[in-house]
Amino acid sequence: MPGTSRYRDIYAAWQRDPEAFWAEAAGAIDWVTPAARVFSPEDGPYGRWFVGAAVNACHNAVDRHVAAGRAEQAAILYESPVTGTRRRITYAELKDEVAALAALLQDLGVARGDRVVLYMPMVPEALFGMLACARIGAVHSVVFGGFAARELAARIEDAAPKVVLAASCGIEPGRIVAYKPLLDEACRLSAHKPEACVILQRPQGPATLVEGRDRDWAQAVAAVKQAGRAAPCVPVAATDPLYILYTSGTTGRPKGVVRDTGGYLVALAWSMPNLYGVAPGETYWCASDVGWVVGHSYIVYGPLLHGCTTVLYEGKPVGTPDAGAFWRVIAETGAVALFTAPTALRAVKKEDPEARLMRGHDLSRFRTLFLAGERADPDTVAWAERILGVPVIDHWWQTETGWPIAANPVGLGALPVKHGSPTVPMPGWDVQVLDEAGKPVPANTMGTIAIRLPLPPGALPTLWQQDERFRESYLAAYPGYYNTSDAGFLDEDGYVSVMGRTDDIINVAGHRLSTGGMEEVLASHPDVAECAVIGIRDSLKGEVPCGFVVLKAGVDRAPDVIERDLVALVRERIGPVAAFRIALTVGRLPKTRSGKILRGTMKKIADGETWTMPPTIEDPSVLEEIGGALRERGLGAA
Ligand code: COA
Ligand code: AMP
Repeated sequence: MPGTSRYRDIYAAWQRDPEAFWAEAAGAIDWVTPAARVFSPEDGPYGRWFVGAAVNACHNAVDRHVAAGRAEQAAILYESPVTGTRRRITYAELKDEVAALAALLQDLGVARGDRVVLYMPMVPEALFGMLACARIGAVHSVVFGGFAARELAARIEDAAPKVVLAASCGIEPGRIVAYKPLLDEACRLSAHKPEACVILQRPQGPATLVEGRDRDWAQAVAAVKQAGRAAPCVPVAATDPLYILYTSGTTGRPKGVVRDTGGYLVALAWSMPNLYGVAPGETYWCASDVGWVVGHSYIVYGPLLHGCTTVLYEGKPVGTPDAGAFWRVIAETGAVALFTAPTALRAVKKEDPEARLMRGHDLSRFRTLFLAGERADPDTVAWAERILGVPVIDHWWQTETGWPIAANPVGLGALPVKHGSPTVPMPGWDVQVLDEAGKPVPANTMGTIAIRLPLPPGALPTLWQQDERFRESYLAAYPGYYNTSDAGFLDEDGYVSVMGRTDDIINVAGHRLSTGGMEEVLASHPDVAECAVIGIRDSLKGEVPCGFVVLKAGVDRAPDVIERDLVALVRERIGPVAAFRIALTVGRLPKTRSGKILRGTMKKIADGETWTMPPTIEDPSVLEEIGGALRERGLGAA
């Protein structure tokens, strides 16, 4: 109940003695060897957590629950409206599946520290694969299925996996996405070649296997089981990487966010009861995808560490088959909490504004809706509160941070909700808003949001084999701080508001994308002289990319033909997830006298916001042309 939250006391306790706070939180984890030092400031770019400790993530997420009496409890409830399938997997079954797959990985030469890339849809085998890696100390790197071959290739090349685990296909509404040809193309493009690929053949779209390299998943695992083999959990250093997750940077080259093992387990285990307010044995549903950080933390590791039942949903909020899907799954699984992106709710609201499809579903066990991935607009939050009648909690985090920076910790007692704010910093996060000179600004003043170092357990210690890029990307701008590259403000009560990015990253339907990466693709087209991609406001997806291109002199193909080429090219190079559908040919791009493209002003024009003429602009009339090009497509202000 608002007013009785323990939050302020807990946050103050962390501020008084961070190491004591995390040492106590570490009590929720089974350690093989406890940490010699809770925090070691000398190690890594800014320090490392739980140095000297040995631990195994799979033991904590699976085996210990089997031993403690949860063997017959459902670990995973797989709900797949796109295949019309449902599966209940107990903790005991999960342990058997994971131990067998882990033994198969060992047979394929995978050992502690080796990387394994996963390119999988939302099927239980994706979780088996992640946990099997964790079991033997291998480092998984999951690639979202909506990325194309080139993106997959970039990740294979950087992570240099010994083995790839993949499914033959994914299923999107109305189409089967054949993953295997994309994997084959990625292996062809990548300089690093995995030694083996284990392919889960799905009946909806089986794949042809490559002689010598590919194994049939089901057959290979069955053979291991028949031989009675099961891999035990291998202790790893708490500071060993559990996974690498690639995320968009400002260029087309993704950043390999490293997640260490011990700190992550501690942070997630703290968050489940205190932030999400769920108890072991309860059902928790995160409707994201295992390809994103939200999926890693709250489909897989968080709920399983805490002995919850996790829901694995292979479907969409709408269209599989309708906008009542969320309510049906909550009722049928008995989920006490749902975690999704605001865009998913906007999709439901658009199709079923009065939530008629909620009728007949028993939501009596459902307590809280959590939102993250993009700014939660107050209208959507208010709508969700009205139709659900439960607290709707916005919380803010990033791939880099691994768990929420700011939230309303319902487990500690909810604080009053302020629409538009993801509430307050969680313990571990010293959130500051800085001006351009790196000085904290007064309350209610916009600035760059930065975190005073060190980052807490669970946050990235570095980028994969790129300490220097880590320092440059996150630590260099404001010495002593981690730069979130999000802009926002703190109010007089310490509530955070996150308004948008300060870099070239855009957020499309809760998916993080690099406009710089899209520009690289457009610029590679032989007819394009120069280009600029911006994110423009969209009522469903929050933002969508919009590309402006200037064609080379003498190009005689019709602009609309080239624009269609460009849309297809981004889809082919980056993938359908980029949702790149708008390419506009213009005569010139607006620039400053020093040649910098005025993307910010272009965005304001496209979003119909008031804008002022930048004093440094080279030729003010170009902005008129940009407005005109947008109006021709029915975009921007009338
Ligand atoms: N594999 C292959 N293709 C995929 C994919 C996957 N795993 N996920 C998405 N795509 C494709 C979609 O089919 C779509 O293709 P299309 O251009 O042929 O239609 C394209 O990528 C864009 O997808 P998306 O932006 O997700 O739009 P959508 O129209 O499919 O669905 C929403 C719209 C709002 C329902 C959907 O975006 C959604 O549920 N978003 C939630 C996001 C989320 O959970 N984010 C995680 C952070 S918490
Ligand atoms: P990702 O790394 O894909 O999780 O995306 C992280 C980015 O999404 C953040 O840097 C923010 O820009 C945005 N984001 C995530 N959650 C929120 C939120 N609750 N409010 C505002 N922006 C958010």
